[in-house]
Amino acid sequence: TAVYLKDYQPFPYCVDQVELTFRLQPEATRVMARLHLHANPARPGVNDLRLDGEELRLLSVTIGGRAIAATPDARGLTIAAADLPEGPFVLETEVEIAPARNTALEGLYMSNGMYCTQCEAEGFRKITYYPDRPDVMARFRVRIEGDLPVLLSNGNPLGAGPGWAEWDDPWPKPAYLFALVAGHLIAHSDQITTRSGRQVALNIWVRPGDEDRCAWGMESLKRSMRWDEEVYGREYDLDVFNIVAVDDFNMGAMENKGLNIFNSKCVLATPETMTDDEFARIESIVAHEYFHNWTGNRITCRDWFQLCLKEGLTVFRDQQFSGDLRGHAVKRIEDVLALRARQFREDQGPLAHPVRPDSFVEINNFYTATVYEKGAEIIGMLKRLVGEDGYRRALDLYFDRHDGQAATIEDWLAVFQDATGRDLTQFSRWYFEAGTPRVQVAEDWQPDLAGGTFTLTLRQDNPPTPGQPDKGAKVIPVAVGLLNPNGDEVLGTTILELTEAEQSFRFEGLGARPVASVLRGFSAPVVLDHPVSPETRAFLLAHDTDPFNRWEAGRSLAKEVLAEMVVTGAAVSRPWLDGVARLATDDTLDPAFRALALRLPSEDDLAATLAAAGHVPDPAAIHAARRRMGDALAAALGAELAALRAAMTVSGPFSAEAGPAGRRALANACLALQTRLDGGEAARAAFAAATNMTDRLAALVALIDIGAGAEALAAFEAEWKADRLVMDKWFMVQVVHAPPAELAATVEQLTARADFNMDNPNRFRAVFGAVSANHAGFHHADGAAYRLLADWLLRLDGRNPQTAARMSTAFETWRRYDAGRQALIRAELSRMAATPGLSRDLSEMTARMLG
Ligand code: ARG
Ligand code: ZN
Repeated sequence: TAVYLKDYQPFPYCVDQVELTFRLQPEATRVMARLHLHANPARPGVNDLRLDGEELRLLSVTIGGRAIAATPDARGLTIAAADLPEGPFVLETEVEIAPARNTALEGLYMSNGMYCTQCEAEGFRKITYYPDRPDVMARFRVRIEGDLPVLLSNGNPLGAGPGWAEWDDPWPKPAYLFALVAGHLIAHSDQITTRSGRQVALNIWVRPGDEDRCAWGMESLKRSMRWDEEVYGREYDLDVFNIVAVDDFNMGAMENKGLNIFNSKCVLATPETMTDDEFARIESIVAHEYFHNWTGNRITCRDWFQLCLKEGLTVFRDQQFSGDLRGHAVKRIEDVLALRARQFREDQGPLAHPVRPDSFVEINNFYTATVYEKGAEIIGMLKRLVGEDGYRRALDLYFDRHDGQAATIEDWLAVFQDATGRDLTQFSRWYFEAGTPRVQVAEDWQPDLAGGTFTLTLRQDNPPTPGQPDKGAKVIPVAVGLLNPNGDEVLGTTILELTEAEQSFRFEGLGARPVASVLRGFSAPVVLDHPVSPETRAFLLAHDTDPFNRWEAGRSLAKEVLAEMVVTGAAVSRPWLDGVARLATDDTLDPAFRALALRLPSEDDLAATLAAAGHVPDPAAIHAARRRMGDALAAALGAELAALRAAMTVSGPFSAEAGPAGRRALANACLALQTRLDGGEAARAAFAAATNMTDRLAALVALIDIGAGAEALAAFEAEWKADRLVMDKWFMVQVVHAPPAELAATVEQLTARADFNMDNPNRFRAVFGAVSANHAGFHHADGAAYRLLADWLLRLDGRNPQTAARMSTAFETWRRYDAGRQALIRAELSRMAATPGLSRDLSEMTARMLG
């Protein structure tokens, strides 16, 4: 049964205050809740009180101290209006729950002997009876009783003694921001003084043994707090900020008020155990969760349809932060790579949905790349359209006007309209319509008109998506620059606002025909169709003054060359090889940028590109062509590879900052290529000499990729077998880089190991996320990998539906492929859909994918 946005109504009661008492026991935790309620004037009339509650054993209900008879159903408890007094009243309940048996990792559960919670989106209802919706905001006071040394909840500490602790959160919040943690934990502590002089104690709580892995997370937290003060004028608002690392967690992390809970993979790091990419990811996730304190917690969402209100904005803010710290060009390229790999893929298949959906069956299925990443792109476009100043004014107004509220996308758009005077009616379609627009570009050059007139004609197409056959034109900011034949800019970056189906933009007095650099900085999340010659792409690769588009020129060229190789069996083209080789060896450029230029398009990306061009992608042919392309690049660079690696040597103590990380990225991109030429000699030496995980893993992967990884894998396992986070990488690389025909066997063998634990989402994802990341292996024509994944999703669904549903998106691209593969995948989707007792999560996903 679906929930619809159009059915929204305010909750008939307001909760002024909640007092919760927890008596912790693994199999039988008691939760006593006291809710102070009054009728909501926004919803007059006679209303029953409906409380959400699932998998709770109800022991008692009283109102104003008097027991009342109330029989819960599977999804909650209704108290008849007749049983409710006039005026404010107090409702008390007592329930029993079993955290030790909670394998879904939603609500209160246990992980390695520690208690923790995950309540977003609708997990609080598995803890106690409550109006579990974000527009009900209340002050929480929590008492925890349990035989454990560390007992944490939201807000400020009120008091503690042996076996108990009390917490008080002065800021009203929705139940999804509630958190509780209890266990044998150790704090890595620090402190910060906010701009207005508040002393804040900072702690990262971990299991004993992990205390030396917290320094980077703490540094990231302090940088985030400073940055939000400086850039958004936002200050922290409690006396303590706690972060807890948990091994078993469905997502990356959660922004619970004053008590963020993190997947340990997203916060714990040492140079020996984590790669540079993981350090950067930790920095951005710590920032993301911290930034939620204002965009999410102080201002929250009225209902779950508005999820992008907090997620799109908070992703946008964490992207700005990482760009400020690590360089905007490289960050933008990485973000666009991720957007195309996940969001475009989603938007172009059966799971396409608007950034603000208008119905859902299971809200957990909508924590998607569309809501998060496209949500962030929309904000980037808004900022481009209203300018820095307009953006700042709009955000100030947003914080002013909506602090303490549960808001909507309409509220968000209204602050931009009110602060800048700009009408956003047409722009708002970006929120309400799914699908990736295609923008076609046509050029015209009239040498004799007005001293040389260049015209760009832009045409937009908004393809149909499930439930949305017709769409109007969007407002698309297209950033362009023009270069003269010497590579000098004759027009600096200018925003063209495309608002109609087709529009022309003229540039006069140019003298010579310019080269157009279109969609600079990826100024809108669209597919650009700008037919230009390979020579022009090579020119832009060499000369574009916009770093994003310089990289993009190489990428477009690479995709065209690869597509050509797949479809016609052509050889690798010279302009691409020469252009990329020149860029990679150009010492004036940032090494991180050069490393990105050496990266080949993924097989999945190429499959999507071919499908969009009307071809049926052949995974085996794509795989073979991509390998040929890598070999050709290796051969073209030849001896330069070793020299480049030597030049990129990083000396001194390890630092995870962008500079040294970029040098390692370029060196390791070269190592991968070198390994194609030398049979693994350099990689074996690098593996043995590595002093950090970045270099060690890069060498390992290079060896696996040429089928020479056995020895290094064994050494890696011997060294790290006791470390869950490091071993996840060991599992993952073997699956991602398995030869396509051996993928299924590799997975069978890995999942038979005693250390494959399907209840740990990181381990499950390490293996099965990697299955679909191995494009040619997953789509091997025998269908073995399809069947294997479906088998395991069904097995997981009974224990952890949220992660099972999320991972089922591996199948979302099925309509791209040939009839044989389509039939195989459809059979697996149908088999899952028809399984008795399938979760709401996975049934919604399979139904949507089957269409
Ligand atoms: N709000 C969290 C974040 O973006 C993610 C929580 C996801 N939870 C879920 N049940 N889907 O940081
Ligand atoms: Zn978030």
